[in-house]
Formats: sequence, structure tokens, C-alpha cells
Amino acid sequence: MTKPIRKAVFPVAGLGTRFLPATKAVPKELLPVVDRPLIQYAVDEAREAGIEQMIFVTGRGKGAIEDYFDIAFECETLQRERGKDLSALDGTRLDPGNAVFLRQQEPLGLGHAIWVARDIIGDEPFAILLPDEFMKGAPGQGCMKQMVDAYDKVGGNLVCALEIPMEQTPSYGVIDPGARDGALTEVKGLVEKPRLGTAPSNLILPGRYILQPEVMKILETQEKGAGGEIQLTDAMASLIGRQPFHGVTFDGRRFDCGSKAGYIEANLALALERPDLGDHIRAFATDELAR
Ligand code: G1P
Repeated sequence: MTKPIRKAVFPVAGLGTRFLPATKAVPKELLPVVDRPLIQYAVDEAREAGIEQMIFVTGRGKGAIEDYFDIAFECETLQRERGKDLSALDGTRLDPGNAVFLRQQEPLGLGHAIWVARDIIGDEPFAILLPDEFMKGAPGQGCMKQMVDAYDKVGGNLVCALEIPMEQTPSYGVIDPGARDGALTEVKGLVEKPRLGTAPSNLILPGRYILQPEVMKILETQEKGAGGEIQLTDAMASLIGRQPFHGVTFDGRRFDCGSKAGYIEANLALALERPDLGDHIRAFATDELAR
């Protein structure tokens, strides 16, 4: 029997410099896709997978994320007095005692950000979701749900695996793949941001992980890797061979909302799907393209 995945870590300390000036005073995780912030989609994805405790690794200037998941007292009181519908706020409050906010004091890398959560994770397997990777599955079949379903079958460590054009691999963690069985691919090796032409495959890590707690021990002594940062990918690579390690191919769409193009694509795709906006946006986009 595998231990259930009850905890998720959301690394949200990054400065979001690619979106300046928008992110000068607003955390990038609060940028909206249509009308919900990126972090809300990631939290909903974790909840849908049965995860109860949400652990945010934040940094200076990220206090708005904590407020976002709290009660908005003035706004809610006023709206209620006016008899307004508050359903838009459903899901924005986290369960009392199940929201943890930790600070990564220095930007030492993703691996370091995860390690900051070691005492909260304890000896349980846990999930990691990078909120600027927006993974859109069918209703009830989000990326983390698909990964937890795979975890229930094979246990061990799992990463989401995504095929991309080979020339984009230097921006990501890349899998050295073994045998494939349906959506599961054996992971034989992992390399963070390989130089162009050196990647072992075009299967990358799009920011969803289920890891065993032993990774925290490795992170404790993890040397700096690509970009002079403590890399989660390097720590995971040390687990291969010691514990089962698989990639899960996600059945759904991925939007890289850490890039402007990906962020705009996500907004357009979601707006087109919305019953209240779709027709309008489709007509507008068609006209606009014909100009
Ligand atoms: C991080 C990870 C990388 C992963 C990527 C996904 O890189 O280190 O392995 O592929 O997220 O977006 P970053 O984008 O923080 O440089």
C-alpha cells in the first residue's frame, strides 16, 4: 500500500521578472487567466487530486498570495449587504489549518525552495505544482489527478512528462526515458537545462511532481547545478535506481504561463471556452485577424 498524497508544495517565491512591470507590485502567481489567478488553478488541480494541505513557499513581496486565500472581509461583507452573489469566491478560501506559508529567504533555486518545506512534509510522499505551468485537463481529470491515479498503481516517484520540440529543451529539465507502457515511461536519468544538442530526449518536466520524502535529505546537501542554483532535477536524479521513478504523459493541454506567449494563449483558450465570453471573443478574434 502506498501512502496517500495529502500535501502539495507550491513554490511561489520567484520574482517574475519576465512580466515586469506587471509584476512590480503584484506576484506573478496572481496574474489572472480570464478572471482567476494562476495560483487558483494550481490549488484547484491539487484539491481535485484529493490533496488537503497546501504549502506555499513564498518570499518578500508575496504577501498578497496569503491575503488572496483568506476571507476578504470588507468586500464580502459589502457584497452580502447588497445581496450580491459571492460564488466567484468559492474555492478561494483554504481550509483552516491546511494552508501553510513559508518563506524562502534567498533565491537559491527550485530545489532549495522545496527543501524549505521539509519539516512540514515530514515522512510523507508529497506533490509539487509549479503554478506558472498551467495544465488543463478534462473536468475531474486534471494533471495532478492523473498523476495520483498513476501513483496509486506504481508508487515511488513520478514526474509529469511532456513532449516538446527538441530545440526548446535547454530551458527545461529533461528525461532520459526507458520503456514506455501506456501513459507511464520509465525514467532512467534526468538533466536540468541541457545545452542545445545534448538533451537525452525531447521529454521535459512541465512542473508537476510526486516525490518521496527522501528527496529532502538529498536536497540538504545538493550542490549548485545549472545556473548556479540548487536544482530539484539534480536531487531527483539521485533517487533514480534507489526508488521507482516514472514519467506520466498528461492527457490534456499545457500552457507555459511563465512566458508571455503561453500566458496569452491560455487566456484566449479559456475565454473561447467560456459560455459568457466565447461567442464574443471568437467574433472579435475573427475580425481582428482579418484586419
Ligand atoms: C523549472 C525546473 C525545470 C522545469 C521547469 C518547468 O525551471 O527547474 O526542470 O522543466 O521549471 O517550467 P525554471 O522554469 O524555474 O527555470
